[in-house]
Amino acid sequence: MIHLIPSHRNRPSDDPIFSLHREATARKAKGDRIINATIGVLLDDEGALAVLPTAARVVHETKVDDWAAYAPIAGHPAFLQAVQNDLLGGEPRLRATSIAVATPGGSGALRHAIVNFLEAGQALLTTSYFWAPYSTLADEAERKVATFSMFTSDGKLDLDALDQAVATQIQDQGRVLLFINDPCHNPTGYSMHRDEWKALVARLLPHAERAPLTLLVDVAYAAYSAGPPWDHLPELVPLLGKAGLLFAWSASKTFTHYGLRVGALVACIPEEKERAATDNALSYSSRGTWSNCNAGGLRAITQLLTDPALKAAADAEREVTRKLLAHRVNIFNELAHAKNLRYPRYDGGFFVSVFTDEAAEKAARMRDRGVYVVPIRGALRVGLCAVAEQDIPALVDALATT
Ligand SMILES: Cc1ncc(COP(=O)(O)O)c(C=O)c1O
Repeated sequence: MIHLIPSHRNRPSDDPIFSLHREATARKAKGDRIINATIGVLLDDEGALAVLPTAARVVHETKVDDWAAYAPIAGHPAFLQAVQNDLLGGEPRLRATSIAVATPGGSGALRHAIVNFLEAGQALLTTSYFWAPYSTLADEAERKVATFSMFTSDGKLDLDALDQAVATQIQDQGRVLLFINDPCHNPTGYSMHRDEWKALVARLLPHAERAPLTLLVDVAYAAYSAGPPWDHLPELVPLLGKAGLLFAWSASKTFTHYGLRVGALVACIPEEKERAATDNALSYSSRGTWSNCNAGGLRAITQLLTDPALKAAADAEREVTRKLLAHRVNIFNELAHAKNLRYPRYDGGFFVSVFTDEAAEKAARMRDRGVYVVPIRGALRVGLCAVAEQDIPALVDALATT
């Protein structure tokens, strides 16, 4: 007798990216020459995890009681304030309306958004290229994913396609939850310019008059953007009170502590009653899933965000890692342009996607050459975050000639 419920019996056994990573790692251990561009963590040029030393030290020095005690269900108030200040401190009009709840990484924030801003059976809307776990998170919560074609023929965000998709969703399900991962979009590497944000908001506002529409900005990679990551926030202000505005904040990449599982969902809500109801709903969701977050992790990240000396040290160290990645991005761009690879504007971030009509076949052939990338629909995702500078020429060559 099979005891598992029928709808869960055919779950895939492993995340495909982790399986590829495992295979690449096993071959490397056997002595094969392998370039592994599958995984979403920043490695230094020797292949070791790039960890901010100050973050590691603060985590290490966090007291036993801070690890052992339960955190409040919504997270320590000091943590919630620190995250909101980090994210919205430069835009007081958003900060004045914001609330937050602690989550296990950005993933937890996405999960809470899905269950609180969509009814069961409804679909979140996102770009046609998107981080695959959006689907898993939606599926697990009995929601779905709908997409709009991400790019115009000249490589800009396709706002006409977005407009149409939003209208369709309003017609079909009477509400919209739009996920935009920016800057440093995973998997394409695209970062929107400020004028694109302005145009996107202008497209959303008329729809927001017709039905509840919530924009969630997934800022998991903000710390690695080429320019100041929060410059576009003023463009989001017109949404206040008209559309829902959420941010999925994550300490994973920001502090190079992926396993600490610290994140937050931040919501900007001017109306007091709605703000309180949302705050309650988010805490309720926490209680009903993971109960409360990693107490020591929240404490450590709070220290890193609020202690002036620690913050300055972590910021300086992060700048070194950001530059390490930016240097790889420059080399990739130079070589990839010379080989006429087709990919979106890429000026920073962990990933880029190279367009191809035969992603699965090409990725398999590249694997035979010892180069691991992730096949996705219409492209190959390349995690430059994990590729040493000296391997980039061979990587680009494999992408161009396999
Ligand atoms: C696009 C995107 N959003 C959110 C996350 C969340 O990461 P975490 O849950 O580790 O904070 C990731 C991690 O890879 C990501 O790629």
